[in-house]
Amino acid sequence: MIGGMSNAAYPLSRPRRNRHDAFTRRLVQEHRLHVDNLIWPIFVCEGENQRQKVDSMPGAERVSVDNVVEHVRQAVDLGIPAVAIFPVTPMSVRDATGTEALNPDNLMCRASRTIKDAFPDLGIIGDVALDPYTDHGHDGVIENGRILNDASVEILRRQALNQARAGNDIIAPSDMMDGRVKAIRETLDGNGYDTTRIMAYTAKYASAFYGPFRDALGSGSLLHGDKKTYQMDPANSDEAMREVEQDLREGADMIMVKPGMPYLDIIRRVRERFEVPTFAYQVSGEYAMLMGAIQNGWLDRDRTIMESLIAFKRAGCNGILTYFALDAARLLRDEH
Ligand code: PBG
Repeated sequence: MIGGMSNAAYPLSRPRRNRHDAFTRRLVQEHRLHVDNLIWPIFVCEGENQRQKVDSMPGAERVSVDNVVEHVRQAVDLGIPAVAIFPVTPMSVRDATGTEALNPDNLMCRASRTIKDAFPDLGIIGDVALDPYTDHGHDGVIENGRILNDASVEILRRQALNQARAGNDIIAPSDMMDGRVKAIRETLDGNGYDTTRIMAYTAKYASAFYGPFRDALGSGSLLHGDKKTYQMDPANSDEAMREVEQDLREGADMIMVKPGMPYLDIIRRVRERFEVPTFAYQVSGEYAMLMGAIQNGWLDRDRTIMESLIAFKRAGCNGILTYFALDAARLLRDEH
């Protein structure tokens, strides 16, 4: 008789009771995604009135500077706190040392000034690395086939200053050279930019998931070899802890793990060990992968986006750079 053996067969504690109805589920929910957690990466290109599709990133666009205010307004209207700018540098100005990165009127600087003018309260994040500006697609300078560390850092620190002068609030070095956070911090402080923050791409892995981004920027076909001598081996986790320790010592204000979904374990370790503002980049390949399945009708769009993003909060992130930022912000707005 089922009733007679209720204590043995059915425990007093039934986890399902807290899932019984919507209000209880809301009460016991441990993590929440908020619009404040979203950072929107955008691509800017030369030309007039441009809105170019990116084949491998359905829904993403490259926009010219004259369209950037309208583009970014979508994020501002939704309450997204910050955007990250990525420039599609024309091939004609790319060279071996990424000289264009230091041009005060380069695409990134023009876009930053234009956005700052229109939306002074929006945070602007600038990526520091040479790959959008070099004709070989590497993040640093090359000599005899080697990516030079210290010579690259000398350029990166000037690139960071160039961006700070254009109005970028947060400098995000994504190059993975040793010692770049310290060099950038000293250069910013020495030039009166002591409040400019550094969000270090600290644990940045040599990942296959950057492919669509390199398509978007036009740096993929240029790339000779791979980035394994500076980006991290996907097999390593302890090494990421050493990178975080070093970047914090060098003055990083915020730490980033990249890519996102395949590296949730790294986010969790960083959060538990260092308890510092931690961000993840849900990169182009993750976006492409999800959008591919969504567009085929194999995954439900809204639920997939939100589940992929709450995973970052659960893992311990403060925020997420995601190409889904607008979609997620709209879904959050319409939730109630
Ligand atoms: C530049 C940079 C890359 C990404 C962000 N900054 C590409 C790379 O390192 O090759 C990738 C972002 C994405 O895939 O969405 N160093």
